[in-house]
Amino acid sequence: MLCAVDSWWRSAVIYQVYPRSFADSDGDGVGDLPGITSRLPYLAELGVDAIWLSPFYRSPMVDGGYDIADHRDVDPLFGTLADVDALLARAHGLGLRVIVDIVPNHTSAAHPWFREALAGDGRDRYIFSNVPNNWQSLFGGPAWTRVADGSWYLHLFDPAQPDLNWRNPQVREEFAAILRFWLDRGVDGFRVDVAHGLVKAVGLPDLAGGAAIPYFDQDEVHEVYREWRKILEEYPGERMAVAEVFDSTPERVARYIRGDELHQAFNFDYLEAPWDAGILRRIIDASLAATDNASWVLSNHDRQRHRTRFGSVARARAAAVLTLALPGSAYVYQGDELGLPEVLDIPAELRQDPGKDRDGCRVPLPWLGDAPPFGFGPSARSWLPMPADWAGLTVQAQRDDPGSVLALYKQILRVRVRLDGPLVWLPAQQDVLLFGRDGGFVCAANLSGAPVALPAGEVVVASGPLPDGELPPDTAVWVR
Ligand code: GLC
Repeated sequence: MLCAVDSWWRSAVIYQVYPRSFADSDGDGVGDLPGITSRLPYLAELGVDAIWLSPFYRSPMVDGGYDIADHRDVDPLFGTLADVDALLARAHGLGLRVIVDIVPNHTSAAHPWFREALAGDGRDRYIFSNVPNNWQSLFGGPAWTRVADGSWYLHLFDPAQPDLNWRNPQVREEFAAILRFWLDRGVDGFRVDVAHGLVKAVGLPDLAGGAAIPYFDQDEVHEVYREWRKILEEYPGERMAVAEVFDSTPERVARYIRGDELHQAFNFDYLEAPWDAGILRRIIDASLAATDNASWVLSNHDRQRHRTRFGSVARARAAAVLTLALPGSAYVYQGDELGLPEVLDIPAELRQDPGKDRDGCRVPLPWLGDAPPFGFGPSARSWLPMPADWAGLTVQAQRDDPGSVLALYKQILRVRVRLDGPLVWLPAQQDVLLFGRDGGFVCAANLSGAPVALPAGEVVVASGPLPDGELPPDTAVWVR
């Protein structure tokens, strides 16, 4: 087990790129790999260490690409395998690592294996039953769909996403080969989709009130990650994997990142927390107690953007200053650095998300200009409509404005590389989060309704103005 204390991912800032919505190079209104490659210098300049690419594989795009029909090819919407190679080369040339999504819980219904299964062959790669149980899909409705011969197949998500049977060794072998395929191409790691869902309880028991969830967090799932860790360690350069595990406690999540399993897990408790000092502190403490390798997440492609969730730009700015001062790694979702709000008024007929209301955080990024699609691509098209009033939020508008959210992120990321050591809480007023790190750095975040005293020292980062030498409400600073 190679696990240097200073492995890059332990303190990395990893920027999530949602390929459909990052940058469109060919004018079809959908972002693509060459678009991402062309904008990599922007991310290098921002100061992140790595990017995580949401799926770009062959897919009918029922669930935004989380329904994969061919794990070893790129969907024509996004480009070609040669475009992946070019992206990796450019990113590595700029000093950025690249991790890619792997979606092992299910395939697309268009995957050759599922087509064969429908025709009656190889059904044991999926979960078929003559008697469905009471499980519900996470997208709503029953988790079972009936096929022509009267039997049913399981799908924890959309009916177009049949769940794989991880008790079948063929499934395990196939995914080991898929990992190697991408590692051989040079990716630096994986983000593991629904990592806790792969193995279902023997006998597929009904979900009973109060009992453990029979389709999540089964002990056998850890065997899969022990095998994956060995594969990752066959490769040089500290390849890593980060797990999406939700509906769980910090202690259960920590089991996925034991020394011989995956490297990191998203912190959903933190992502789901309200703007409340007491709750945030409890979650920070519980997270740090459960693992010495915590991660911090404010937004992603599935959740309402935190500027809207917290209720103001000031809070989003303060949250960035607070979050990026915490020990561990941080995941930044594209557009966080621009302070984008959730788009709440996408007309029903233009919405694309199958199960949940997730389009509002997936609106394409505004790069430049005064009108939609704000330089997203060379045409006037964008796969989701962009708000007409985003001109002030474009990269171009923020780049040279020292008061912009973008300037704040750049400054945070420049100083953050000097942060080190454990978090030490310091005595503070009610609803103020105040802690130190090594080297004399102190972070103060005021979540109360009134100004409080600034900690002594030189202010090196501030989320907003500091009138009268005080720390106003919804403001955070780093002082040294
Ligand atoms: C994960 C993804 C989400 C997707 C789901 C099913 O939660 O983040 O976007 O819908 O898995 O693959």
